[in-house]
Amino acid sequence: MKQLRNTFTERFGDLENTLSFFAPGRVNLIGEHTDYNGGHVFPCALSVGTYAIARKRDDKKVHLYSMNFEEMGVIETKIDNLEYDKTRDWANYPIGVAVMLKEAGYEINQGVDIAFYGNIPNGAGLSSSASLELVTAIALKELFHLDIDKVEMVRLAQKAENEFVGVNCGIMDQFASGLGKKDHAILLDCDTLDYQYTPIVLKNEKLIITNTNKRRGLADSKYNERRSQCETALKELQAELAIDSLGDLTREEFEQHKHLISDKVVQKRAKHAVYENVRTVEAVQKLNSGDIEGFGRLMNESHESLRDDYEVTGKELDALAEAAWQEGAIGSRMTGAGFGGCTISIVPEEATDRFIENVGRRYYESTGLEADFYVVDIGDGAKTL
Ligand code: GLA
Repeated sequence: MKQLRNTFTERFGDLENTLSFFAPGRVNLIGEHTDYNGGHVFPCALSVGTYAIARKRDDKKVHLYSMNFEEMGVIETKIDNLEYDKTRDWANYPIGVAVMLKEAGYEINQGVDIAFYGNIPNGAGLSSSASLELVTAIALKELFHLDIDKVEMVRLAQKAENEFVGVNCGIMDQFASGLGKKDHAILLDCDTLDYQYTPIVLKNEKLIITNTNKRRGLADSKYNERRSQCETALKELQAELAIDSLGDLTREEFEQHKHLISDKVVQKRAKHAVYENVRTVEAVQKLNSGDIEGFGRLMNESHESLRDDYEVTGKELDALAEAAWQEGAIGSRMTGAGFGGCTISIVPEEATDRFIENVGRRYYESTGLEADFYVVDIGDGAKTL
């Protein structure tokens, strides 16, 4: 924050009338590729994320600066003329949020100066973009005294990413960044947006994120392909079933009707969506009854399903999960969209050092890449500091 304050002063004069904000990244414990299928997810907010210092201006100018993209300098535009511009790169996220708020009827009619700093490892799949969106949303809410609740902010942030930036993501990342709660995960029904906080009290275990440090190359196009395969499956199932999403199905109903899905690959994608949704609800029940081992087993099954049926893991994530299983993890799985990014593991506390050393070594031996490890600290959602 001190550095960010200095940066703000250097770029925008002084700190008078500024407000400070934070929105976190997220890690999903289970329930992957279920959000856009009307299923359940179980993410938690991290203590890392994006910080912002912001001030309303007397004119219409919008000035955005990120300490993470210093080489791009201050991005300048006008509040009455906000448009997508590829060359503005990262700044399209905050601009998109402002556009969606305005389109939804919230009055933002003066310019702003905002300086950002994010401490989420780059490209790790821990939702730095959602945290940038949510920190912008809360800053605009406070600066312009908007009468908007968190869930509406989350919806508009997702809309910004879908319609302005052009990434067809579900609602999980924005929801976790907006509504996260310290030491809790959120069981979210992505169909109704009903949610419930579950305390994550691990007495003898640690949650560890491991970063493959693999660049996520074609991730966006493959992500969109999975989404449309699920849509195809849903349409074919709707020929006989009165359902709104794959998340409406039990495993038994799916097995009885899967023949309606003509393409075998599409059938596998739908199977994952259905089974993963059921698994997520079961996993949270296990956690609530203190059955960490049971929760861990379902995490492992989730990884296998993402590997075999959804096919979004890849060599690096598989190498990490397998190494974790061999090194005594109670549960370990890829988290986020896949194709690189991170795994999340539950590890007995007394074994953490050994785990980090041995998983790191095994991973290096099988991929030639160095993994990074972070012990998870579950933090709060978007807030004014
Ligand atoms: C990305 C998307 C989320 C979700 C996950 C997969 O993180 O942004 O909406 O679909 O992938 O579970």
